[in-house]
Amino acid sequence: MSTTPSPTIMSLHNLSRRITFRHIAIVAFSSLLLFTLYTFSDWHHARPGILDDYGDRPPPQHAPRPPTSPTDQDTKTSPPKTVWAERAQNVREAFLYAYRGYENYAAPHDELLPVTGSHIDNFNGWAVSMHDSLSTILLMGLHDEFSRALVAIEKTNFTLPHPVKGVPVYTPFFETVIRHLGGLLSAYAYSHEPILLKVADDLATKLAPVFNTTSGLPAYGVDPDTGAVSPRREAVAAEVGSCQLEYAYLARLTGKKEHYDRTASIMKAIAEVNLGRVGMLAQDFDLNTGQHIKGHISVGAASDSLHEYLLKLYLLTGHTDKVSLDLYVKTINRVLTTLLYVSPNRGLLYVTDAFRADLTPIPTHKFEHLSCFLPGLIALGAHTLPDNAFDDARPMGLTLQDENEIQQYNWKKLHMIAAQGLAEACIQMYEDQPTGLGPEEVEFSDDGQLWIRQMRKWRLNGKQGKPPGIGAKKSEVGREDYILRKQAYLLRPETLESVFLLWKTTGDEIWRERGWAAFQAIQKHTQTPYGYSSVRNVSYIPPGFLNEMPSYFLAETLKYLYLLFSDEDLVPLDRWVFNTEAHPLPVIEWTPWERRKFHIPS
Ligand SMILES: *[C@@H]1O[C@H](CO)[C@@H](O)[C@H](O)[C@H]1NC(C)=O
Ligand SMILES: *[C@@H]1O[C@H](CO)[C@@H](O)[C@H](O)[C@H]1NC(C)=O
Ligand SMILES: *[C@@H]1O[C@H](CO)[C@@H](O)[C@H](O)[C@H]1NC(C)=O
Repeated sequence: MSTTPSPTIMSLHNLSRRITFRHIAIVAFSSLLLFTLYTFSDWHHARPGILDDYGDRPPPQHAPRPPTSPTDQDTKTSPPKTVWAERAQNVREAFLYAYRGYENYAAPHDELLPVTGSHIDNFNGWAVSMHDSLSTILLMGLHDEFSRALVAIEKTNFTLPHPVKGVPVYTPFFETVIRHLGGLLSAYAYSHEPILLKVADDLATKLAPVFNTTSGLPAYGVDPDTGAVSPRREAVAAEVGSCQLEYAYLARLTGKKEHYDRTASIMKAIAEVNLGRVGMLAQDFDLNTGQHIKGHISVGAASDSLHEYLLKLYLLTGHTDKVSLDLYVKTINRVLTTLLYVSPNRGLLYVTDAFRADLTPIPTHKFEHLSCFLPGLIALGAHTLPDNAFDDARPMGLTLQDENEIQQYNWKKLHMIAAQGLAEACIQMYEDQPTGLGPEEVEFSDDGQLWIRQMRKWRLNGKQGKPPGIGAKKSEVGREDYILRKQAYLLRPETLESVFLLWKTTGDEIWRERGWAAFQAIQKHTQTPYGYSSVRNVSYIPPGFLNEMPSYFLAETLKYLYLLFSDEDLVPLDRWVFNTEAHPLPVIEWTPWERRKFHIPS
């Protein structure tokens, strides 16, 4: 524990077990929260979709929103409000079914095996499904589930269940932060239950030895019983740069500088990476030098959440962390000019990865389900960043004509076109399959064209019709433009996360309808007698169960679906930031005291 006790932490010692009072308080707080949100939020309909808006009208902003009267909402195509309320209720029931399956057949182990009704400890045996469910439980107002979880959390001590003397077991830092720490902190933000903060603080402190590297970037993992750090001195981007939100918010809650220092140490290291001709942070890092190992650029597996946290740290810190914004701007410019392709027959817009990024990048034309968070992230940036956020971006001199091309547009409009096209392709991957479920990975034919060059043609032709990548054609036999590389659907959230964010940022109800179809496919093809299961083959009915229910299904997939169908704006995007596991954390306005204490530049 720290030598600088803060008022919050000291009050933990007075913790008492007033279940009744706590219970009442939770109910009262949740009701008040829901009532407040319901009363003050009525902006989620009737805002223009991007397709209505290629002219000079500014793109939709998060505030202030024009008041809408109930009569001009839901015109023509949309079903009445009660339908959405019912659909949200269906998702809540699906969550309860999955979570009770976990509670009854797997707790206190990590995950449910949903076909056999048994359990697995694949994340240290610290009840990862329970921690990962906390914020969904609170958003859905599931008071009994929350009370039971609190009782379990009070007993948590984060030691290994079966230590073997002399054999270190490394807790994966990245996964433990985003799932356990993120879950605890978000649940604390909603419930203010002191035990959650105490346990989060203990866990974060226990994991902290990973920062003992020459570069200050975190190592892969730590043995929680001995503090021994994993010896490997190479790491991947997502693992070194996806804990800044959690440690910054924990610093705010505890007042402890050492927690903030962990965020700062990562930001300092990545700010010093020489991007050179790679143009964005690459996939692999050297933990001794802090430099990336040039070559492979990606927004998919092993890279994804590093890029996500660049934008999100800026948003979480009330638009103060300029280093993260600067890197976000560079990254997105590189992605838009290098990694976005349009498929030849159908005009699907996809994001791929590339090798030899420091020379002439060679695209793989793979399109991963994991990359489907990107459209949502880009839409979130366009929706929340100030108009001048991209003003200082200078061409990096990598592909000059393409870089000049992105300067030809209002950046928010350009980003929303990319976001919409990508999100359409992500959900189209579901709609193309007989099961209605999205594959883990596809590979496009290699005769696709760089999106930015198609944009250039479209612009030079006077912007006739839809921009490239928007409104792709439906699949036709022999002209799909891609083949399935990995046929499984692993109950992943990324596409539905983007569908939710596209709906929130455009107000276009088509996203809710497409999300509803995906949810129905999940219900139909992944439900088992004990919960929900990943499936083997999205192009075959029945798709075949894999007997696993990853905790992110509870944390993310069902949460984003619930928020997509809820008419209340339960998590306003200008006041909350989702961590990469979909645990919402409140935006921080640093006080002068915090700025001085944590050495935050103003
Ligand atoms: C941690 O909790 C487990 C399970 O409750 C218990 O068996 C173990 O003895 C505890 N370890 C410590 C160091 O308190
Ligand atoms: C950090 O690493 C150094 C050198 O590897 C070691 O001597 C030191 O004990 C470590 N400190 C902690 C707190 O783990
Ligand atoms: C998935 O199903 C398709 C269509 O029936 C089949 O061609 C393919 O071989 C299957 N793939 C796997 C991995 O089972």
